[in-house]
Amino acid sequence: MFHDSYGREVNYIRLSVTDRCNLQCFYCRTDGCVKFIPHENVLSYEEMLRLVKAAEKMNVSKLRLTGGEPFVRKDFLAFLGMLKEECPKLDVRITTNGTLLGGKVPALKHLGIKRINISLDTLKAEKFKEITSRDFLPRVERAIDDCLHYGLTVKINVVAMRGVNDNEIRDFVKLAKVLPVDIRFIEFMPIGGCSHWKEGYAISAKEILQEAQSVAKLTPLEKKSKTDGPARLYSIQNGEGRIGMISAMSDHFCKTCNRLRITSDGRLRTCLFSDKEYKLRPALRNSRLDDDQLLRIMQRATESKPLGYKLLEKRLNSASVCTKAMSSIGG
Ligand code: GTP
Ligand code: 5AD
Repeated sequence: MFHDSYGREVNYIRLSVTDRCNLQCFYCRTDGCVKFIPHENVLSYEEMLRLVKAAEKMNVSKLRLTGGEPFVRKDFLAFLGMLKEECPKLDVRITTNGTLLGGKVPALKHLGIKRINISLDTLKAEKFKEITSRDFLPRVERAIDDCLHYGLTVKINVVAMRGVNDNEIRDFVKLAKVLPVDIRFIEFMPIGGCSHWKEGYAISAKEILQEAQSVAKLTPLEKKSKTDGPARLYSIQNGEGRIGMISAMSDHFCKTCNRLRITSDGRLRTCLFSDKEYKLRPALRNSRLDDDQLLRIMQRATESKPLGYKLLEKRLNSASVCTKAMSSIGG
């Protein structure tokens, strides 16, 4: 088990398979101020698999594959096949924008993927184009339908932004009333050196919850397992789905943080908000280092995992809490 110096156990790894994305969401896009990771620095799928298999020896039981957009990377389905073959017990999940899922959902099901998180900030086509610079809302809608049709568990991530999509909170809640999905509202975070975050966009989970409660009776739910993600969940009276709040800004969940992040060029980050990174690529590419040595590096990094992050204080001085773009960290 990976342990940090505060007694927290890490059993969840978020692995970004690429920093590229086919959407250009205004709040995530780098506008050229962050360079893409050069191809030669991106870990091969074999290197990623080795990392994951090694981490499994330390009782990591949950792997989330992120991007950029993971389906942009060539042969991503083949990588899922490698994971299924080599790590059959691992709970593999994906966070995607859903736009490239067309026709692939049966294959995902076959590859043992049971859960998928889809990022969708608006239900209106025009607004979708405004936010992402692409006309792909129908693709995302189809992806959600397909996932539900094939029995995958679907969570929809909505980054809540005042003046952008706050007028759709009720519509998203109504959607969760009729569809068996979790709609998770995320507080907008000031991530990335050239983040487009502004105080004016911020809406607290508390405010979102009030708005949500105006169209549905919500009841808080207990967390079920140690691998649960950061959302506080609510059931909806007479509803098919649930509502979640990810209060990354107003009410940190650091005390129960159980995760490490690995970027596509093999940098381990112990906290989303901290720029401190531990390079795993040299160890992976050094044929003299075995898995035990690799795991020792990861364990030492885990020991430095910060207990929390004074995000709100830092935010007052700067529009960003770290220099790395969200698209290369993977959320
Ligand atoms: P589940 O395991 O399905 O609950 O997923 P998740 O919420 O852990 O992952 P997802 O990729 O769907 O992330 C949803 C939002 O939560 C994104 O905006 C993430 O950046 C945010 N998030 C996830 N983990 C952390 C974390 O450790 N700290 C902070 N501040 N935000 C996080
Ligand atoms: N603040 C909060 N969430 C964000 N995401 C991307 N950028 C931000 C941000 N600045 C979300 C995406 C995706 C998830 C991985 O992170 O919309 O759902």
